[in-house]
Amino acid sequence: MPDFENLSYRKSGAIATLTIDRPKALNALNQATLAEIQRAMQDAASDPSVHGVIVTGAGGKAFVAGADITEIASASPQEAQAFTRHGQAVFDLVETLGKPVIAAVNGYALGGGCELAMACTLRIAAENASFGQPEVKLGVMPGFGGTQRLPRLVGKGPAMQIILTAENIDAREAHRIGLVNEVVEPARLMTRAEEILLRIIANAPLAVRLAMEAVNHGLDAGQAQGLALESVSFALCAGTEDKREGTTAFLERRPPRFSGR
Ligand code: CAA
Repeated sequence: MPDFENLSYRKSGAIATLTIDRPKALNALNQATLAEIQRAMQDAASDPSVHGVIVTGAGGKAFVAGADITEIASASPQEAQAFTRHGQAVFDLVETLGKPVIAAVNGYALGGGCELAMACTLRIAAENASFGQPEVKLGVMPGFGGTQRLPRLVGKGPAMQIILTAENIDAREAHRIGLVNEVVEPARLMTRAEEILLRIIANAPLAVRLAMEAVNHGLDAGQAQGLALESVSFALCAGTEDKREGTTAFLERRPPRFSGR
């Protein structure tokens, strides 16, 4: 895979780490960076040696400070629509990767940065992280999924407050309202994200993938359809070698060795 200009993408063992690295704009997402995230995520999805991904920002000050405001400033309505559709597609890819993706949020996660974190499976925040959807201050509105994922994560009232006031919240408040899963000291951020990811990927990969799909699809459907999907996915699990291995290992009182089949 050729090198990237605005991010680094490294694999170590079963984990790929994608670090957005555009220091001149606090890692803001221009079109080129979005395209690079898409390419890295496509690689992570298709490489069988990658079982999970960590997304973070370079530099310690920002995870991602939003979509690139210089590009938004000059965009026509048609260009702005294409930009948001592209961002939405990339973040949909992150959400439906089929493998767990953990956001390790190390600073500002604003606008498109908060939206990227929300597309990830889980969010771990450093104590110095802050979150917000400041778009209405700029005369625009969230465009990479914020109006949809934020109310699904934290409920309509808190989402409306964050989007309409355009005020940032700190990591503790983000944790209190359920926007992030855990808050840790900055020095422990990557270790903790890795710990959680290793815990997830030690489980049966197909079962993990189907469980993520059931949660995601269920949130977009009624409970009855969600339950029907859950039942079919459970049945699919029942036909896997990993189900035989997982149940046998339990009964034989030994750790399972999952093959992903
Ligand atoms: N786009 C482009 N450039 C950005 C940027 C962004 N989102 N955020 C920061 N930068 C640039 C700044 O312009 C500055 O560049 P120069 O050094 O060339 O002047 C550099 O990054 C450093 O930023 P600051 O000097 O502003 O740093 P600070 O510490 O004073 O403030 C900050 C940090 C509070 C994050 C501030 O930079 C800020 O408010 N950034 C914008 C946040 C924002 O509004 N994000 C939403 C974007 S719109 C969006 O995301 C739409 C969508 O949903 C699709």
